[in-house]
Amino acid sequence: MSEIDAILNKEVLSREEIIDLLLTGPEDRNKLYARAAEIKTQYVGNVVYFRGLIEFSNICEKDCFYCGIRKSNKKSQRYNLTDDEILDAARFAWESNYGSVVLQGGELESPAFTSRIERLVRGIKALSEDKLGITLSVGEQAPDVYKRWFDAGAHRYLLRIESSNRELYYRIHPQDKTHGFERRLQALYDLREAGFQLGTGVMIGLPFQTTADLADDLLFMKELDIDMCGMGPYIEHADTPLWQFREQLLPLEERFNLALKMIAILRIMMKNINIASATALQAIDPIGREKALKIGANIIMPNITPGAYRNDYKLYENKPCTDEEAADCKNCLEARIHMSGNKIGYDEWGDSLHFKVKDKPA
Ligand code: 5AD
Ligand code: FES
Repeated sequence: MSEIDAILNKEVLSREEIIDLLLTGPEDRNKLYARAAEIKTQYVGNVVYFRGLIEFSNICEKDCFYCGIRKSNKKSQRYNLTDDEILDAARFAWESNYGSVVLQGGELESPAFTSRIERLVRGIKALSEDKLGITLSVGEQAPDVYKRWFDAGAHRYLLRIESSNRELYYRIHPQDKTHGFERRLQALYDLREAGFQLGTGVMIGLPFQTTADLADDLLFMKELDIDMCGMGPYIEHADTPLWQFREQLLPLEERFNLALKMIAILRIMMKNINIASATALQAIDPIGREKALKIGANIIMPNITPGAYRNDYKLYENKPCTDEEAADCKNCLEARIHMSGNKIGYDEWGDSLHFKVKDKPA
């Protein structure tokens, strides 16, 4: 058995082995992908679940150095959908048989914001006979806020740690009260405590990031025992501070390959979690998300934000489908997902199997 085959058959991967896998060349890389695909088929099946993504506002109180909608970017055209627009988008998801929606927006913390999200969660439940699953992705909040949203009916939460290396974290975020690494970590614990299926993730190919950092990110996710993961390539944005380091970055194609490897390795390490195929993959390769679905990912988040606003939710350059209508996305996605060898789990929540198993008393 070759060295790579031996690693791929291990139950537990060491840091060194993960690094080896991240550094594999084209031939071994294909073995990695094949093993991850096999595990995906065995543990979660070749079914892809839809989460209709509603990017409801790009107003953000934070100033992350990589993000196009950071507070200090005066060039960003700010928008905030009305409640009716958000509910209409959710209705579109419901009528299109998407099992779930994701409410994603810039990070804000205020009593008004808390009530708004709570009202929207209840509204989405009401319009879908209590059936649409709801994932929230609205940042760090106080524990009681998370509880209120969970009680209102949201059941999954995505909060990327962005990087699990504290030092790197502070190279890509301002070091101040609103961007504390410890607070972000605590938020992950609070989310679990509130009852949510817990999702986190990182950006791949950041300036200053090493292969060992990425291996540590995967070990961090395993240690935290997450239920879901969303991670994708970092894509530089001209109106952000990290733009100045663009010459240090890996070429886009390498960042893309690294992101696919991260997904495949995570599938091997955490066999029954949900792994999203990040939209940023499609910004590099037109069928990037489908490639990820082939080698380990099982969740896709079609953008159902009303067309007029899509262009303004620019976290990074070259964001795909910003000029298309949601329905177009549904049709083209369907064909491409079938091509990737997967079925679509229409009308299903597609909850994390990992969460379900964990939930059962021993
Ligand atoms: N490139 C890739 N991903 C980005 N995000 C924000 N800015 C960028 C960028 N420039 C990701 C972050 C955030 C998620 C909503 O989008 O990981 O958590
Ligand atoms: Fe908005 Fe980072 S810039 S959360």
